[in-house]
Amino acid sequence: MKVAVDLGTVANGEPAELDLEELLSTRLLVQGNSGSGKSHLLRRLLEQSAPYVQQAIIDPEGDFVSFADRFGHLVVDADRTPAELQRIALRIREHRASVVLNLEGLDAEVQMSCAAAFLNGLFEADHAHWFPMLIAVDEAQLFAPAIAGEVSDEARKVSLGAMTNLMCRGRKRGLAGIVATQRLAKLAKNVAAEASNFLMGRTFLDIDMARAADLLGMDRKGAERFRDLEPGHFVALGPALSRRPVAVRIGSVETRGRTGRPSLLSLPEAGGQAMHDLIFAAAPAEDLPPPVSRPVREHVSTHDLLGRVVAAREKPAPEADDERSEAERAALVEDIFAEMLADPASAFRPVPVLYQDFLTHCRLKRLRGAETDMAAFRRRLSLARAGVTAADADEAWQTVLDASDALPEDMQGVFLMLARAARDSADCPDDAALARAYGSHSPSRGRFLLGYMAERGLLTAEADFRGNRVVTILSTGWRAVQKAKPLKLDDARARRAARQSTKF
Ligand SMILES: Nc1ncnc2c1ncn2[C@@H]1O[C@H](COP(=O)(O)OP(=O)(O)O)[C@@H](O)[C@H]1O
Ligand SMILES: [Mg+2]
Repeated sequence: MKVAVDLGTVANGEPAELDLEELLSTRLLVQGNSGSGKSHLLRRLLEQSAPYVQQAIIDPEGDFVSFADRFGHLVVDADRTPAELQRIALRIREHRASVVLNLEGLDAEVQMSCAAAFLNGLFEADHAHWFPMLIAVDEAQLFAPAIAGEVSDEARKVSLGAMTNLMCRGRKRGLAGIVATQRLAKLAKNVAAEASNFLMGRTFLDIDMARAADLLGMDRKGAERFRDLEPGHFVALGPALSRRPVAVRIGSVETRGRTGRPSLLSLPEAGGQAMHDLIFAAAPAEDLPPPVSRPVREHVSTHDLLGRVVAAREKPAPEADDERSEAERAALVEDIFAEMLADPASAFRPVPVLYQDFLTHCRLKRLRGAETDMAAFRRRLSLARAGVTAADADEAWQTVLDASDALPEDMQGVFLMLARAARDSADCPDDAALARAYGSHSPSRGRFLLGYMAERGLLTAEADFRGNRVVTILSTGWRAVQKAKPLKLDDARARRAARQSTKF
């Protein structure tokens, strides 16, 4: 199928067409200084070709989210672990979904490793899924830098490898790279060299002009014309575009990016005291940190649940003079648990001590505490701490409870607490909360516990590309995310350290 993508117009007003099928096997390089209209050009090309070909857009600035809305592309966010992203990429190829990989707000180094994991996933798809696909990479010099810059060698190696694979070996796999860069001299040579089609926009620096002339097989004088190009005007050359260099004016677009050309605004009228009041106003109440409160406790109810988790025991006959029904007695036991858990200090007291407490409470209420032995008590305490209620006690929970048997008794509660958060898609408890549930004051204990449970195959705990910790309960696939602590934006080193501290 021959499809001509309408990029805009050539000098005589004729449409400037790009042969889409040819593009798939010959790739494209767009270069031009900042503001020359590269992102606009990519947008035009992607809009015009969206109905005909599967697309993936690597979007460092979150510019293409509106595009995704309009054309039905999925947005893949960076709150995914490397393994998840890889899996998502494989499914994208299998199901031929068009996507935008949104890398907005990430450190350069994280953007690189995130894009690399995604591209590698696309690249490693099964042979049966090698369908043709356009891969657009804006600001490609970020992902395939010519020289080591501020990022670590490791990040550069991984990202450059993925970009090189895309441009050099992607064709056989149906992947066609479209890369745009503002500085040709900053883009790795082998990545630029694999494109056979070029769209050259306004270029000021001699070194970039020399590289452009080199790639296009022009002399330096011919390349001088790039200096005088207007924004939105490009010189096109290549098998999918034109056999001879031809000037193209890129047409309009249907969607809008968020970055545009900055323009001057008149300054605000407010000044003096009015401005002072605006800037130094006190924080509204909702911005203040919430008062410290005890975690909300859920009632563990019904005998039913106990029946599931406690080994069946023969019940002694109720005391002859006890007029209360079984349900009433069960409710009293509930109350005892609730009361014990309401005391924050109880987290730090050893289970045998709590058990003695429990028995005392039972005696006071004239209950047969001994119906619950120590092991059953511990299990039930874990469930209560994790907030597992009778209403939850379905088959999935049973799977989780069975899995928890592989752990030492005193860890089971911690595992159930994680499972509870994951089940509810709630925030994952942090190290300190995990340690507390284990009866320890030391947050490092929380880390240890997660590592231990991961080693035994009960869960995985990994960092996603936003630095959040993702805990997945393996028996059910439930997933809880612990948000990374906000850090100062400029403190890249702290961020890196934080990321490392969430690796296991
Ligand atoms: N062909 C065009 N027609 C109309 N406006 C354009 C065109 N090309 C670029 N612009 C505008 O110029 C500004 C800069 O373009 P942009 O694509 O962001 O440049 P770059 O990505 O090269 O830095 C944007 O506001 C964009 O809307
Ligand atoms: Mg741009």
